[in-house]
Amino acid sequence: MSMDRLTSEKKIDMSLPVDHASASAIVSKVRVVDHAEVFTSEREISQMLDLVGHECERLESRFLEPACGTGNFLAEVLLRKFASIASKKDLTGAEIERNTLLAVTSLYGIEILNDNLLKCRRRLLNITSVFLNEILGQSFDPRLLKSAEKVLELNIIQGDALSMQYVGDSKGPIIFAEWAFIGDLNLKRRDFTFGHLIEFQEIAAEGLFSDLGDNVYIPSPVSDYPVVNYLELTDAY
Ligand SMILES: C[S@@+](CC[C@H](N)C(=O)[O-])C[C@H]1O[C@@H](n2cnc3c(N)ncnc32)[C@H](O)[C@@H]1O
Repeated sequence: MSMDRLTSEKKIDMSLPVDHASASAIVSKVRVVDHAEVFTSEREISQMLDLVGHECERLESRFLEPACGTGNFLAEVLLRKFASIASKKDLTGAEIERNTLLAVTSLYGIEILNDNLLKCRRRLLNITSVFLNEILGQSFDPRLLKSAEKVLELNIIQGDALSMQYVGDSKGPIIFAEWAFIGDLNLKRRDFTFGHLIEFQEIAAEGLFSDLGDNVYIPSPVSDYPVVNYLELTDAY
């Protein structure tokens, strides 16, 4: 597979809208006023992600884009993670499949507008599909893309990042799924409220790992699911 292929989303033949690639930072003045909808340029995104370049290549490293629009940051992170997978020449097909889903599970987004939300999910799924086709041809398990679609549905959610509440069809506090691979085939899902995760971050900034004393706060999951085969997420949830 050509590494060059993965260095820019523009090189992927996408039928989907790609906001920073289309050179349009603004959709409408009304949306700018109502939702501060001004998309970040590809150059700025690249420079910002370069600051945490190693984390973008680490498949387990989780990223949250809290006002994600159509996923300009998430798309670039995913491309970098996929480039990292492609650079490892000794992976088997099964390992590539597993790593691909691992990369997808690491991305989280919150977006208040439904149209942006749907574009973001479709865009990330499309990048995943193109990557798998490029690197494995037709030989990957078709259930993998279904699982990726399910993960994106749960990880990229319609909500208000300020009030930390769902918007649209779902109600109540925003909940995110934590995905953890158990061995080569199984995934463990635990759900946490976004509010609890933010609380955790504040304490972590004060030195969570330097002093395991009374101040340590470990969020409790609101739901805990049995492990499932990572190719069977659609049936499981
Ligand atoms: C400035 S754009 C940035 C989009 C993308 N992160 C980027 O850098 O290109 C802000 C996005 O956040 C959404 N948004 C505005 N207020 C929000 C809120 N309270 N919670 C979640 N999303 C919000 C808008 O609809 C818009 O898509």
